[in-house]
Amino acid sequence: MKVAVVGCGYVGLVTGTGLAALGHEVLGIEIDGDRRAQIAAGKAPFHEPRLDELLRSTLEEGTFRVSESFEAVKEAEAIFLAVQTPLQPNGSLNLDFLVDATSQVSHALAGERSRKVIAVRSTVLPGTTEHHLRPLVPEGLELAVNPEFLREGSAVDDFRSTDRVVIGSREAWAGDLLEKLYAPLGAPVIRTTPATAELAKCASNAFLATLISFSNEIGHIAESTLGVDAEEVLSIIHADRRFIGNQDWRLGRPEILSYLKVGCGFGGSCLPKDTKALIRYARSVGQTPVLLEAALSINEGQAASLVERANRALDGLADRRVAVLGIAFKAGTDDLRESPGLKILDELLARLAKPVIFDPLVPADALQTYEKRGVRIADSLLSALQDIEACVITTAAPEFQSVPDMIRASRDGAPLVIDGRRLLSGEGLDDSGYLAVGRFWSAS
Ligand SMILES: NC(=O)c1ccc[n+]([C@@H]2O[C@H](COP(=O)([O-])OP(=O)(O)OC[C@H]3O[C@@H](n4cnc5c(N)ncnc54)[C@H](O)[C@@H]3O)[C@@H](O)[C@H]2O)c1
Repeated sequence: MKVAVVGCGYVGLVTGTGLAALGHEVLGIEIDGDRRAQIAAGKAPFHEPRLDELLRSTLEEGTFRVSESFEAVKEAEAIFLAVQTPLQPNGSLNLDFLVDATSQVSHALAGERSRKVIAVRSTVLPGTTEHHLRPLVPEGLELAVNPEFLREGSAVDDFRSTDRVVIGSREAWAGDLLEKLYAPLGAPVIRTTPATAELAKCASNAFLATLISFSNEIGHIAESTLGVDAEEVLSIIHADRRFIGNQDWRLGRPEILSYLKVGCGFGGSCLPKDTKALIRYARSVGQTPVLLEAALSINEGQAASLVERANRALDGLADRRVAVLGIAFKAGTDDLRESPGLKILDELLARLAKPVIFDPLVPADALQTYEKRGVRIADSLLSALQDIEACVITTAAPEFQSVPDMIRASRDGAPLVIDGRRLLSGEGLDDSGYLAVGRFWSAS
């Protein structure tokens, strides 16, 4: 089938190249000239494992191409909208990009007679497609909602082996067309209304955010309880048959359990944004979403709580040399949006510490604003660990496993290690020099 994808960011490029690899002929439409040039040269404009290979192979086979022109949407049977829907200061989602993209597609398709479906892949709140986008679309074209559930860092695999394809459409033929497009994936397809598909996407992210904040709240309780480690508490919850079914847990655990884990909070472009937007939406329909508000509030305090631990252990943070290890919002990505590492860095700067930062995937030029504020950007883990008094691990980047070895090998005095991800076992580190989130801390 011929397909167009408007917006070639994380979602659009993965969807476009993913559909191309399934045998469809895909046109990616991207307004950003730099992004377009990179994509046309076979390089994704952001770090995403396996995406470059997929992009190069689909470009070479001619099943994927990128353009700025909307002209070719005329040939497509399905047109996906995968543009950004960022949060506005008032907590609502900015629909300007989506409205522009819908108008441009509608304009290019004016007068078209063949059946086409425009599928909203961007994350939106219930009613957006019907109330904000449908009035822009000419008669005869159908709008559907087809949310994306990928995770950055494993987006290509998530697309290929998606747990479910959710299609919200008013007209059965439009849903049938999208279902046919995804058929080669062999994934379960859930057909529903547009508003249900919209709410299901926001609710999924709010659910994951709530699990993380639940875990961190248990972590706070454990941190103040002698002899208790929240990771052990949570692993006992993990072993419940209601989570793992009849599976032998030693053979591997359901991935959902990775959200029932203490850490330095959720970040990224989706969980905070979608939870905040859902809270605002819930209020707008007369509800008081106390659980979601609490999940957000726990998350917002998590960076400060970790920095406070460092503050107490070091007896003040002014002029203290502290390394923040991990600046992207999680391992495996270079995405800085709503990153816990950056929140920790901001908190350290507010307390007049002298931070140094290192992330194996984030290039130094993305951190220039921090360099201007006096933050040292280390080009290696070894360099980040030199001459510091403490380090805070904020992502589970595999490189950080070697922190204890590097500290032992160094001639500088051993810094305090604050493990904000429970990445290390603590082995090889002096007990008083290793503080782990979720574990009782004698000085608290
Ligand atoms: N990133 C994720 O992990 C993820 C996962 C699931 C859903 N989502 C949702 O998907 C949507 C897209 O997210 P993203 O992370 O891919 O965003 P992104 O910012 O990485 O990409 C959006 C792209 O659309 C382009 N664009 C904007 N307007 C355009 C137009 N009129 N014509 C052509 N191109 C245009 C932008 O230049 C940009 O490259 C958002 O609603 C997001 O909430 C994101």
